[in-house]
Amino acid sequence: MTIPPSPHRPDAVERTAAAAAAPTERFAVRTQGMVASEIRALFAVASRPEVVSLAGGMPNLAALPLDTLSAEIGDLVAREGQVALQYGSAQGVPALREQICDVMREEGIEADPNDVVVTVGSQMALDLVTRLFCDPGDVVLAEGPSYVGALGSFAAYQARVVHVAMDSEGLVPELLEEALRTLAGRGITPKFLYTIPNFHNPAGVTLAVSRRRRILELCAEYGVGVVEDNPYGLLGFSGTTYPALRSMDRSVIYLGSFSKTFASGLRVGWALVPPAVRDRLVLAAESATLCPPSFTQMIVSRYLEKHDWRAQVKTFTEQYRERRDAMLAALETHLPDGCTWTVPDGGFYVWVTLPEGVDAKAMLPRAVTARVAYASGTGFYADGLGSRQLRLSYCYPTPERITEGVRRLAAVIEAEMDVRRTFGLPAAPALEVRRGAHTPSPDTA
Ligand SMILES: Cc1ncc(COP(=O)(O)O)c(C=O)c1O
Repeated sequence: MTIPPSPHRPDAVERTAAAAAAPTERFAVRTQGMVASEIRALFAVASRPEVVSLAGGMPNLAALPLDTLSAEIGDLVAREGQVALQYGSAQGVPALREQICDVMREEGIEADPNDVVVTVGSQMALDLVTRLFCDPGDVVLAEGPSYVGALGSFAAYQARVVHVAMDSEGLVPELLEEALRTLAGRGITPKFLYTIPNFHNPAGVTLAVSRRRRILELCAEYGVGVVEDNPYGLLGFSGTTYPALRSMDRSVIYLGSFSKTFASGLRVGWALVPPAVRDRLVLAAESATLCPPSFTQMIVSRYLEKHDWRAQVKTFTEQYRERRDAMLAALETHLPDGCTWTVPDGGFYVWVTLPEGVDAKAMLPRAVTARVAYASGTGFYADGLGSRQLRLSYCYPTPERITEGVRRLAAVIEAEMDVRRTFGLPAAPALEVRRGAHTPSPDTA
């Protein structure tokens, strides 16, 4: 028997049958980075009806015209079932890829449908892009804090994350430059910058248009790719749609999704990639799923064709704006002095910084006991920061529930501060420096 040499671990020793007895001992080394997200672990408790969950980022699907959709889906099966229920192209349904280009045009992107790869949610695109570019130990730059699902993919491929801080206008170009220079000084070229420019998850801030070009220039200067993740871009509350980074630079890898603008359960997202990347991405997608589901793609395609999807997005944003307003008003009314928070102009999230000494993760069980749940900040960092911070989502609960949830949260924070005042318990490490009200703290790498 000839065993081909190991390309990545030439010194790997053969394991004996005895050493490999327990299945967990046979796990690949990269699985060590796969840990349950704090948010997912919380879902079971937070979904109890008596708990106001401000934790998850579930879209409010009650705003969808379900009767119309149901008739449309029935018609799809009756008329095109033989195609919709069959395997399809690994790159995605051609008609949908064309429509995706129309959607992206809203943010100034001119794209060729041949460069679009449909994926099972943009989460899959994130996973595939990381798989394509990252070897173990490679460095990825990401905002601090960053999207927990992206951090999960980076960890699964053993990439190291260097966070770059944001302020109320998003990623700070000067800090990006500093990080790039420091890394270059150590001989490290990050594989890419992963950024969520619009209505950031979890920080709630948007990257100022004036910063966008500078960030692209810096990445080009240092030979670093850019991955732009933009599921919330069309959900702006002031009617503003910001120019995508991809509209300014065709080398940017752009990730999009119908999860927040239509229906997350259909799991339809996409990547728009430069032609040089496309074929590899399609091969990676094929090895993951053979092809994305024809059925859900055709549902999305019909929806875009027959339904006024722009009006639907407007309906969604009006509801989210009302909920955002309810949350901001409640925070203003109830949260104790010393708390600060961001003011989102779109999307789903507010990022709260707690008073010095209050640890969001340690406080969470007490908050759940008080029937309110949130996502604690450490889950949004790869390096342990965020202990004094938490993410609140206003997308799913009604305005009344949001107000009640924030009222309960405020009482828990007050109690926490009281305990600290009374017993003088040691403060949680103050890793973050506060920059005044309504700005995320400038945590650095
Ligand atoms: C920033 C960001 N990227 C990607 C995703 C994944 O979205 P999808 O449902 O398309 O997989 C999410 C979901 O919450 C997100 O917030």
